Amino acid sequence: MPSTDFVIDPADPFAAVTHAAPYDYYRRLADGPPLRFQASLDCWLATGAAGVLAVLAHPACRVRPTGQPVPDTLAGTPCGVIFAELVRMNDGERHAVSKQVLARALGQVDLARLQERAMHLANDYVPGSAAQLNDAVFQLPLFAMADLLGFAPAQWPALAAWTRDFVACLSPLSNGEQLAGAQDAADSLLQGFGHLLREGNARPGSLLASIVAETDAMGSGLLANLVGLLSQTCDATAGLLGNAIVALRAQPDLLPSLRAAPQRWPAMLREVSRNDPAIHNTRRYTADAVELHGVRVPAGQMIVVVLASAGDAELGFGHGRHGCPGQSIAHTIATACLQTWADALQRLPLAWRYLPSLNARIPVFSPGEMK
Ligand code: HEM
Repeated sequence: MPSTDFVIDPADPFAAVTHAAPYDYYRRLADGPPLRFQASLDCWLATGAAGVLAVLAHPACRVRPTGQPVPDTLAGTPCGVIFAELVRMNDGERHAVSKQVLARALGQVDLARLQERAMHLANDYVPGSAAQLNDAVFQLPLFAMADLLGFAPAQWPALAAWTRDFVACLSPLSNGEQLAGAQDAADSLLQGFGHLLREGNARPGSLLASIVAETDAMGSGLLANLVGLLSQTCDATAGLLGNAIVALRAQPDLLPSLRAAPQRWPAMLREVSRNDPAIHNTRRYTADAVELHGVRVPAGQMIVVVLASAGDAELGFGHGRHGCPGQSIAHTIATACLQTWADALQRLPLAWRYLPSLNARIPVFSPGEMK
């Protein structure tokens, strides 16, 4: 377990994401100006609830730089095809309909049934070692989403593996090999969803069936945004689950009290989302000069929106136009897994560090000492 004694402050918000104890630093950022230029990163920082909300709400603060809808490294590739269509990566009218269709379909998911299914699945994959736990925190949420979408169990492992490979294309830290692997994975994911749609295989009552009912409305963006549902689930839900496991380790009184009152599991997960969130920052790019809290940010600038500095405002799932439509689903899946695994996890000696990332806090567990 990382020691929190005498820790050195993170150098910047990117370093904070995987730092052992970053929350005092985030509190100090929140106490400072809501908008500031960070020379070492050559970009702006939006901090505290006021800074974060102002940027997320401003129409000229976009998810991509003007004139570069797809990163150069992905242009003309299968990953680029998906990226260009994702509601998460686009602003403007063309994607407004897809956004509504997704939000409506996700909003109609029967969470009680999802909880039951996810507990059932989690029971088949109770981690017996740190290595199995590392796989399970990624796999189980993806299996639960694949099940919800309507894929057959035999397809889940491949879908989960492709999703993890595809997600690599979204990280600025990925190397050439990971980017190449992401292209094959993107092709396979598009084909997998294409097959399910073409064959008319969408299981009645599945999430896919409710989205397909509106296919015309979503047009060409359909396949890409279905892939997007898996990719948005992947790192973020693994982070939520992993950080919840860290919380159970750090607070030994927690598990006995949850055992005595299992109805408190969802509240425990919400607390983890607030106190040790999975997604620490996101980015926006100014399409025009903007004035935010009296600070003028010129056009063409990058703003790192430090969600984790928003404290009690609970902005770990974003806000406004791009706010997460999957929050309840993520919490339901994570609650189901944790509740099912808690006793087995208690017996596992675990240590952890964090997976290299500029925005997602995901513990990687290793065999450690029993506390
Ligand atoms: C703990 C788990 C999760 C966290 C912390 C999380 C967090 C976020 C955040 C911060 C954003 C906004 C990004 C931005 O504004 O730049 C977002 C967007 C999004 N999330 Fe999640 N998410 C989680 C799980 C999920 C799941 C399970 C799904 C799918 C079922 C999902 C689907 C989406 C989609 C489609 C968007 C894009 C929305 C848009 O741009 O209109 N998320 N998420």
